[in-house]
Amino acid sequence: MEGPRAPTNTEYTDIVKFLDTNLRQNSTWSVADEYPTVFTEHNLHNFRIIKTPDEILSHAVIKPLLTKTRRAVFKVGCIGSVITNEKHRNSGLSQNVIQECLNEIKKQDCDFAILWSNLYDFYRKLGFELAGSEVSLLIDKPLNVKNNFKILDSNKVDPQALYRIYSQHSVGAVRNLDDFTKYLTIPNSRLYTAWTS
Ligand SMILES: CC(C)(COP(=O)(O)OP(=O)(O)OC[C@H]1O[C@@H](n2cnc3c(N)ncnc32)[C@H](O)[C@@H]1OP(=O)(O)O)[C@@H](O)C(=O)NCCC(=O)NCCS
Repeated sequence: MEGPRAPTNTEYTDIVKFLDTNLRQNSTWSVADEYPTVFTEHNLHNFRIIKTPDEILSHAVIKPLLTKTRRAVFKVGCIGSVITNEKHRNSGLSQNVIQECLNEIKKQDCDFAILWSNLYDFYRKLGFELAGSEVSLLIDKPLNVKNNFKILDSNKVDPQALYRIYSQHSVGAVRNLDDFTKYLTIPNSRLYTAWTS
């Protein structure tokens, strides 16, 4: 068994296959299309795997993001796509991979690490603490928009326009135009925008 370590270029396709098989069984799209700014061959140094010569056993990936707030700009190490092959669970593989991600996050001078999960006990053992919860809102009525806004239900909008609005937020990750262009290609996503004349 090797790792945790960063993969080589030739292992990238196998990683995506491993994640699609284990994390996206019922999806018609790939995890790589869902996270287009993370799953690039330029980010391979931020992936961590444990594997045998034949198969990947455990995986996690880091995405360092600058996050601006009114008080300061933080460097945040985001961790995602944490998974261990079902046949190899409860042997410490994931804890090992995440610890290695945390070492890398420290090495890259991040102020803190963050991840989204409902496995509170699992991550608490690794030093994480619950810091917030996600809220989903469903708008189940037609949007009643005043002031003659035109509502578009389409991903075919100018990424520059989204980028311009997003850049005005006082709190948020620092993203660029290329990121927005990629977000607009994420499968199974619906984007509503309101446009003035
Ligand atoms: C969660 C997961 C990554 C753990 O991987 P693993 O390699 O088996 O984990 P480890 O062997 O390093 O750690 C096992 C420990 O975590 C605990 N654990 C495992 N799954 C857990 C769960 N669903 N909830 C809470 N604790 C869990 C075990 O009880 C064990 O605790 P112990 O060390 O006190 O005995 C694995 O179950 C998995 O791939 N699940 C499906 C994908 C998933 O949910 N990923 C997390 C997304 S945030």
